[in-house]
Amino acid sequence: MSTATPTVRPADTPGLSAPLAAALTAATDDRLVLDLAGIEHRYDTLRRELPGAEVRFAMKACPVDEVLAALARRGAGVDAASPAEIEQAARAGVPAARTHYGNTVKSDRHIAAAHRLGVRAFATDSLEDVAALAVHAPGARVFCRVATAGAGAVWGLSHKFGCAPADAVRVLERARERGLVPSGLSVHVGSQQMTATAWRTALEDLAGVLRALRSRGVRLDHVNLGGGLPALGYLDRHGTPLHPPLDKIFAVVREGMAHLRRVHGGPLDFVIEPGRHLVADHGAIRAHVARLTHRRGPDGTPRHWLYLSCGKFNGLYEMDALQYRLVFPGHLPAPGRTGGDLVPAVVAGPTCDSDDAYSHEHGLVRVPRALASGDPVWVLSSGAYATSYTTLGFNGFAPLPYTVTGTPEGGARDRA
Ligand SMILES: Cc1ncc(COP(=O)(O)O)c(C=O)c1O
Repeated sequence: MSTATPTVRPADTPGLSAPLAAALTAATDDRLVLDLAGIEHRYDTLRRELPGAEVRFAMKACPVDEVLAALARRGAGVDAASPAEIEQAARAGVPAARTHYGNTVKSDRHIAAAHRLGVRAFATDSLEDVAALAVHAPGARVFCRVATAGAGAVWGLSHKFGCAPADAVRVLERARERGLVPSGLSVHVGSQQMTATAWRTALEDLAGVLRALRSRGVRLDHVNLGGGLPALGYLDRHGTPLHPPLDKIFAVVREGMAHLRRVHGGPLDFVIEPGRHLVADHGAIRAHVARLTHRRGPDGTPRHWLYLSCGKFNGLYEMDALQYRLVFPGHLPAPGRTGGDLVPAVVAGPTCDSDDAYSHEHGLVRVPRALASGDPVWVLSSGAYATSYTTLGFNGFAPLPYTVTGTPEGGARDRA
């Protein structure tokens, strides 16, 4: 029988690279760890897969200076959603010319502030917003967001943003009348989009709008493909690995780009605004076990609950829609063995809020029976929307500090 000490093998664990494993092992307290080299590698891969598409990182997914700077050094810009994001991107070294204001929801004051900060490209989806842009960002370039159904995505974004294709024509014509530059169209197929079909449908809709605009003499110069590219390491709410068909998605997007160029009949640039795809799998949270308990619920059913130090309000905001892979580094199976003494548990965060939990009904996770308070746990593929979707300290649980690893200088750096 082997007597080797069990270790985590990054190569066998989706969402765990060697640099992440090293930084998680070194962490002695709770924190988010981000692997810059991994993020850069995913950016490079995306650029190869979609030649000709300029990347505008949706910074809401990970507004961390080091991430913004690393991507900017490689030529990326940002999709910003407010003047505060624009300012942060500028401080991190993203030129205003590579920053657009991608939020269709903007007050007059925010439009004027963005314009003062040098931003000259704005998303829109309504005549009211166009009127405000004409006043507060005169002469700006505007691109109109076309609504999508959101089907096939873990988070469809179908109602709040984007107009019907026919209205996009009116919006861009009005922009031209008001002295703005009608420059493009955009879509968002829904976040963590799991199907290639959604992209095909969205790009077909855009082709129709391009044709209609062409017949009215409105010539755009770009199409913004939006966000929605998936993370690869998530589990669904039941704990089953999600396997997004990434190669197929890229193939459909490439075909769609070529088709749109043909329909447009002239030069057409492309922009893409990935958020979670670039960062989710290159971030992981080092948290700890608050307690593993076993008790009967109101209906008399006994159940294990695993309470972690980190949950919906301090890093895992999306835990009600999916699950993350969990690694308990102090309770690894012996080499050559799987499992161990495991119990099915509901995983939950530390606060007094019952939403701070994985799905109770179908989301039981098999966890080591011997877990004790204080044991470390690694939450994988949690690099997206962790620092941004966190409360300031709900119930006294502070936002997580973070460490970046894979920095240009080497080593790891910590930030509160
Ligand atoms: C305008 C816009 N672009 C891009 C994104 C990034 O989306 P994702 O993280 O799904 O790539 C979002 C996210 O909400 C968005 O609102």
